[in-house]
Amino acid sequence: MNLKGRNFLTLKDFTPEEISYLLDLAAQLKEDKKKGITGDSLKGKNIALIFEKPSTRTRCAFTIGCIDEGGHPEYLGKDDIQLGYKESVEDTARVLGRMFDGIEFRGFLHENVEKLAKYSGVPVWNGLTDDYHPTQILADFLTLREQFGELKGLNFVFAGDGRNNMGNSLMIGCAKMGINFTCLAPKSLWPKEELIEQCRTYAKESGAKLTFTEDTDAVKGADCIYTDVWCSMGEEDKAAERVALLKPFQVNDELMKKTEKDTTVVMHCLPAVKGNEVTEDVFEKHAEVIFDEAENRMHTIKAVMVATLGEK
Ligand code: CP
Ligand code: NVA
Repeated sequence: MNLKGRNFLTLKDFTPEEISYLLDLAAQLKEDKKKGITGDSLKGKNIALIFEKPSTRTRCAFTIGCIDEGGHPEYLGKDDIQLGYKESVEDTARVLGRMFDGIEFRGFLHENVEKLAKYSGVPVWNGLTDDYHPTQILADFLTLREQFGELKGLNFVFAGDGRNNMGNSLMIGCAKMGINFTCLAPKSLWPKEELIEQCRTYAKESGAKLTFTEDTDAVKGADCIYTDVWCSMGEEDKAAERVALLKPFQVNDELMKKTEKDTTVVMHCLPAVKGNEVTEDVFEKHAEVIFDEAENRMHTIKAVMVATLGEK
């Protein structure tokens, strides 16, 4: 498998085999790191980390992943560069592309990460945009593999804002990998029809079943219930409206009982607003898996950098 020079903007651009390859590589890098073995795959490589929005996991995962492989990360926060207001995204991309070997971008408009990829000439990795969060999905799938052995045929429920970056990206990833995906959300927050149609074509190939429902009984038989904040970064003004809309879909004891399984795991990309999308006690009961998932951000992001830019 050769992914050298590729961008990582959404999982739409990757085949199930390529996604599996990245997960295998991440698992290997994780095993190595646990033994104290790091690599030099990114030796001599300079990596720009652009953050318009704040981050704990993604920033740290790119930083540590890069340093573990011998590269040099440079953090460019929203007040450090004048991206998109005093200097165009296209010009910024052309400058950074002449100095750096790879660029991570976290920000608002998805079209900006596409512009960086188009104009920089170096691999660009999406660290979250308003529409997609693909590196998170790799961490989630590595965690699911660790819990269940394989992905195909799992029953996965996303409860929350089905049209945010996580709802969209989990649907894409599940449809590609043959995971049965249920979006449990008010109809007004189901993913956009165009994206659902695209995912139906992936699901046809993989055998995944896609379900969109407002009925909480749909969690019956779930292997995983996944949730995310009700207001994503940049949507803080929608708080009251979202609480009213999403309260019936909170991941709580009552919902967990409806799975009729005692092996169901709860996952969350974090950060979490406990008492909103998940109760404190359900969160704590599943904390081990949730923090494995957070740790796996590092191993999977490292795998993406190594696969697309590394020397091995
Ligand atoms: N899950 C995630 O992307 O976390 P950060 O916002 O802390 O990077
Ligand atoms: N949907 C959340 C994800 C955070 C990792 C947000 O965009 O804020």
